[in-house]
Amino acid sequence: EEVARTRLGGAKLIVVANREPYIHRYATDGAVEWIRPAGGLTTALDPVMQACGGVWVAHGSGDADRAVTDPSGRVGVPPDDPNYVLRRVWLTPEQEDGYYYGAANGMLWPLCHQVFARPAFDPGHWDAYRRVNQTFADAVLEEAQGGPALVFIQDYHFALLPRLLKAARPDLVTAQFWHIPWPGPEKFLVCPWARDILDGLLGNDLMGFHTQHDCNHFLECVDRALECRIDRERFAVQRGGQATTVKPFPISVDPALADEYLGDDWAARAGAIRRRHGLGDRPLIVGVDRVDYTKGIPERLRAVDRVLHRHPELRGGFHFVQVGAPSRSSIPAYRDLTAEVNGLAARINREHGTAGWQPVVFLNAHHGPEDIFALYRDAAGCVVSSLHDGMNLVAKEFVTARADDRGVLVLSTFTGAARELTDAVLANPFDVDELADGLHAALTMPAAEQERRMRRMRAQVDDHNIYRWAGMLLSEVGKRVPDSPPPPAE
Ligand code: G6P
Repeated sequence: EEVARTRLGGAKLIVVANREPYIHRYATDGAVEWIRPAGGLTTALDPVMQACGGVWVAHGSGDADRAVTDPSGRVGVPPDDPNYVLRRVWLTPEQEDGYYYGAANGMLWPLCHQVFARPAFDPGHWDAYRRVNQTFADAVLEEAQGGPALVFIQDYHFALLPRLLKAARPDLVTAQFWHIPWPGPEKFLVCPWARDILDGLLGNDLMGFHTQHDCNHFLECVDRALECRIDRERFAVQRGGQATTVKPFPISVDPALADEYLGDDWAARAGAIRRRHGLGDRPLIVGVDRVDYTKGIPERLRAVDRVLHRHPELRGGFHFVQVGAPSRSSIPAYRDLTAEVNGLAARINREHGTAGWQPVVFLNAHHGPEDIFALYRDAAGCVVSSLHDGMNLVAKEFVTARADDRGVLVLSTFTGAARELTDAVLANPFDVDELADGLHAALTMPAAEQERRMRRMRAQVDDHNIYRWAGMLLSEVGKRVPDSPPPPAE
């Protein structure tokens, strides 16, 4: 098997992300199949890896992952045409429980999102998090053996990893991108391990966030919690002889993927979905999310309810289709949310529906990108009503799917995307009337106005695409990569 060793300024590129870009699992007939996981991170980074080559280190989370992986933990991906290496790290169920469900998603996720969900601070979870960061450090060090490497770490699962890597291999260049928001110091510093987290992240040469606002919050936390020097003009933190640059890099998508996923037969696929769920030929408003309490799914259902009360003329005239990929379902808050969404959908359908028409259709299952893009293209509008979101790539994907320059994006003001897609219909998701107005606008906007807005949004995403994001971020640290192999660390 070919091991991709593409060099970046003479270095090997090693991406670390908890989530793997391809998951192998057993289908009901026992055959091994693979899927792409739901979520913005893998959607954004897979095209970059396909273009650059290198190694992606991730948790092997599929039940058939081991069956297709070689003894060293490596497998070529994409599975149908491999051009980079996926290095799988195996975790025990206890490790996954403490590190992934506990510390990452039960503590850091609610700590970083301003959605009034209480983080759980559990020393056992934190201990698992520390150990799993060390396990990933061991895997990265193995992949980086024998030469210079640029390690590009993703997200809140690995706050301790950069410091561990730098301690073992000071010559490694490390950059980390935080895909979720960073909170202000009043919020962040309640965490019992706030200093460990900040110190771990300052092991990086570069720390990237979506917005300047997130960078400012991070610098304020560092300033209050640690001994260090902050150079606000150079966006840098000096600590113990090391400099970390802190800068915004708004993430994006690959606009060319829309054509690939839509293909020639998107209308047939959309037609099949319509038939399966009894949607007739009515206009659709779609929502596409992991079922997560940061996404504002109950809020958007309440807005559907409100719009039907305020505009009875719309009854029978559209469907709201929510694609909700199951996510993190062993966490009670996620299970409760699924129940809440099901309950709300049923109530709204009982109250407004008729024998031949159900306003809300909740598709609580994993969907492949071909079906999702067919829905984007077929829809009158797409609603992104996150209560807080680092960027939100559904908003950008929807825009890339609309080469017809039609369709209305209703977008929460509390997303990173709202700063770039200013031609969306912006709404505060906590304000049910405002969100209902947004839905009404999506169903009634004249074609000429749709076209004017969509053109500008498409130009924005075409220009600020994922390759530009990766290029800016990696060239910021690429210049620090040494040309010749370093002396051994021992
Ligand atoms: C967000 C996070 C990613 C994560 C994704 C899906 O986008 O920033 O790190 O991969 O959600 O969540 P999951 O827990 O399924 O990986």
